[in-house]
Amino acid sequence: MDNFTFYAPTYFDFGRGAEEHVAELIQQFGGSRVLLHYGGGSIKKSGLYDRVVSTLQKAGIPFVELGGVRPNPRSGLVYEGIELCKKEKVDFILAVGGGSTIDSSKAIAAGSLYDGDFLDFYQGKAVIEKALPIGTILTIAAAGSEGSPNTVITDESTQIKKGAKSELLRPKFSVLNPELTCTLPAYQTAAGATDIMAHVCERYFSNTEEVEITDRLCEAVLKTMIYETPRVIEDPDNYEARANIMWAGMLAHNNICGVGRSQDWASHHIEHELSALYDVTHGAGLAVIMPKWMRYVLEINPDKFVLFAERVWDIKPGMNKKKTAQKGIEAFENFLKSIGMPSTFDEIGAKEEDIELLTDKLLGSRKTEGNYVKLTREDVIHIYKSAL
Ligand code: NZQ
Ligand code: ZN
Repeated sequence: MDNFTFYAPTYFDFGRGAEEHVAELIQQFGGSRVLLHYGGGSIKKSGLYDRVVSTLQKAGIPFVELGGVRPNPRSGLVYEGIELCKKEKVDFILAVGGGSTIDSSKAIAAGSLYDGDFLDFYQGKAVIEKALPIGTILTIAAAGSEGSPNTVITDESTQIKKGAKSELLRPKFSVLNPELTCTLPAYQTAAGATDIMAHVCERYFSNTEEVEITDRLCEAVLKTMIYETPRVIEDPDNYEARANIMWAGMLAHNNICGVGRSQDWASHHIEHELSALYDVTHGAGLAVIMPKWMRYVLEINPDKFVLFAERVWDIKPGMNKKKTAQKGIEAFENFLKSIGMPSTFDEIGAKEEDIELLTDKLLGSRKTEGNYVKLTREDVIHIYKSAL
């Protein structure tokens, strides 16, 4: 196991009705003038918006609001949010929605206390030194942004989607009420589940040895998702299944499953180019890319795939390790299909003629991508092509 530090001080308020505590939580974490940030309207349709507004009003917390975050959040709205926060002297951001809304909030939080262009943080030109505190009310189990230090934004001028990271961006609190996810369309539930599983796989496929504890934590999250996802697709109002998935989503990405080991992240970065160019749902893009990445790197570095097959997918150990490993990947592919996820470029509107462009945007001036196997430009092209 490698040396590591771990400090993940988000306060979680989990369970039915937890959003009723939001005003107290904001006050507990020092907020007195709030930006209420949300997406394209699902929270208005579900009635959550009205409940949150009335809770803030009852508590006498002044707020301004900015809706309209789109999935795969864009730089344009972040600039608007920064201006609004500066003008209104906002000291706390409340994100109500999914990963896109939370990531947009994190960008606004860092950008509001920075004199330059907030995209500097996403282009590696500046390090985040200050950020407004944020809190979240999560409405979809997927990205894990409710407990992570990460934010991913698409620069509208270049269509490049990149992440930034700072411990200052971890939410001060996150309200997780599984009931709020019951209104999700099945496709979004499944895409969220895929993203959760991908967050674990990015950490599981590691070359660091003797990491039994994090291996076992990763396997527990994956097995939970394999059990609960079909239950919730079958019965969207299954509270207990929603609850397990919601907590799994947090565990998958606050890095408790990833400490002390090298991590990969090639599939995520390869996918981000798809969601930037075609506005694909992130989890659906991962469903296309991740199994292709697995099949490709299995040929070069098979060891962890045997464990993945035997422990996660209950494939009986065989004499032929490669066959066992292949059966594990096949089981993952069948699972993704069974929950309605795509597996090809065609299904997500991606085009063969863009593969060179996607690869150029991904690599920039870098020579390789990923860690479990360091992928060259040719490797990345091969992975994209295997999704045709
Ligand atoms: O915008 P609204 O109207 O709210 O609709 C959203 C959106 O259309 C809808 N939705 C959310 N909760 C709902 C609901 N519809 C009905 N009922 C509800 N309860 O679902 C759609 C997707 O929402 P979005 O926020 O985009 O989903 P998700 O949480 O999957 O976030 C995806 C974004 O997170 C990034 C992705 O790249 C993508 O941009 N990621 C962020 C990470 C992080 N910050 O740590 C890590 C991830 O790997 C990921 O890259
Ligand atoms: Zn993800």
